Amino acid sequence: MAVALIVAAGSGERLGAGQPKAFVELGGRDLYRWSVSALQTTAGIERIAIAMPQDVEGGKVPSGFAVTALPEIIGVPGGATRSESVRHALEAVGPGDPVVVHDAARPLVTSDLVERVIAALEGEPAADAAIAAAPVTDTVKRVDGAGAVTETLERSELWAVQTPQVFRRAALERALDVPAAELARATDDAWLIERAGGRVIVVRASEENLKVTIPFDLRVAELLLAMRGGPHG
Ligand code: C5P
Repeated sequence: MAVALIVAAGSGERLGAGQPKAFVELGGRDLYRWSVSALQTTAGIERIAIAMPQDVEGGKVPSGFAVTALPEIIGVPGGATRSESVRHALEAVGPGDPVVVHDAARPLVTSDLVERVIAALEGEPAADAAIAAAPVTDTVKRVDGAGAVTETLERSELWAVQTPQVFRRAALERALDVPAAELARATDDAWLIERAGGRVIVVRASEENLKVTIPFDLRVAELLLAMRGGPHG
């Protein structure tokens, strides 16, 4: 059976809400609860650990969840960086393989997407991880410190990576067993696998699975959730 980690411990400064992003209201509930709902209704997930902001609910089961509900939900304090939060949650979640990692900042995730990413990893024995991603539609250029373009990247090879990311547990444990400075460089966990020579495969995901970073994203997410029919679960 799989286990899932939700990282929700970021400060969300770019959102400018004056409180951690996890607790920003979206469609009538705290932002992180959309991800919890999606993972709770995903087939094959046994337990969920959530890394919460340290000063708020870290270390406790977040309020409003029945501790007897299945899958079981475990609250843990987040770390100084995203990958440290993943490490804390992995240490707390208990046995289970593979491990689903999801950013609470992506509230539009669906259980269908999580199940497809788990199935992709199951279907490719040589892979260490499978990750949700969408082909890039913008032309992407490399720009130097002076604001001048130095390179235009080949768009047909570029994918914008999302979460969920699903890992074979041993590979994720090895990848996270590096100094804090290395963890701090990782903007996703798959990179930690790639740099060690691991095999990561992409699973085509919807662009709707957007990341809420700035106020504009929150407005778009609100509209998309309203089109889906409001809170569920
Ligand atoms: O800051 P960033 O956009 O990389 O955050 C991605 C996800 O990682 C968010 O869901 C955020 O709550 C989480 N995070 C965390 N602990 C941190 C930093 C970010 O759980 N120290």
